[in-house]
Amino acid sequence: MKSIELNNRIAIPVPGLGTYRLGRNDAEVEHAVRSALDAGYRHIDTATLYGNEKPIGKALRESGIPREELFVTTKLWGSDILQGRITKAFDESRQKLDIGYVDLYLVHWPVKGKIVEAWHEMEKIYESGAVRAIGVSNHLIHHLEELLDVADVVPAVNQVELHPYLVMQELQDYCHERNIVVESWSPLGSSKVPLLTDPVLLDIASKKGKSTAQVILRWNLQKGLLPLPKSSNEIRQRENITLTDFSLTEDEMTMVDMLDRNERTGVHPDEIGF
Ligand code: A2P
Repeated sequence: MKSIELNNRIAIPVPGLGTYRLGRNDAEVEHAVRSALDAGYRHIDTATLYGNEKPIGKALRESGIPREELFVTTKLWGSDILQGRITKAFDESRQKLDIGYVDLYLVHWPVKGKIVEAWHEMEKIYESGAVRAIGVSNHLIHHLEELLDVADVVPAVNQVELHPYLVMQELQDYCHERNIVVESWSPLGSSKVPLLTDPVLLDIASKKGKSTAQVILRWNLQKGLLPLPKSSNEIRQRENITLTDFSLTEDEMTMVDMLDRNERTGVHPDEIGF
């Protein structure tokens, strides 16, 4: 599987499997993770909020795949920051996953007034050696500026909602200039952001003999982004990691970039509540 290097030289496999609402119960989550691993995924992205760390950990342990070949991300929820229980929340996530260390731990959303304090706690967890890299999620430029002003450790990653209708090129450039990998959540859009039926994307896909999802994910790769498509379906999981047997031309990349319309499927990072 393709991988890229984080700013502390750790390799992160591309793409990763998004797991928000991966299944309706633990058995479905386990099943979906097993099929993703069979398809070749080695990077699984979860969060405290998703409530699925336990079944994900179980599927990973039972897979027989050596721990060092796997890459697992989980995230710190905002109410744990507000209640001053960051280290405790991390320990709980680690216990639920039960796979030894965590590869990447992210601040799930910026908590107004607590960005700096939360990041210092994250740095302590990193220094303890229980996690291989730390980063943030849903941080806009002004959140990152506040954090980077005082940070000893530069976040390895910023995971944001990102797709052809929400390109946020300025944020991408800001992160890439600082060696922060940008991960895309909901890279394929949603019913609210119906990307997969976009005529421009459908046209490129039909010319390439690929699916619209593959065109979007390939666009991510060529822009240096790390997409986290979620699928619980074995066929679509395989489709979403078969991305290296074609490429988009410069013109096609520009056509996709131009679809940007600043349209979100999720909440704006300045409006999140906990
Ligand atoms: P499914 O799991 O049935 O494949 P998210 O926004 O959380 O990343 O969700 C992605 C959505 O896109 C899910 O509903 C998922 O459904 C669907 N999906 C994932 N991969 C594909 C694909 N290759 N083609 C069409 N739909 C997809």
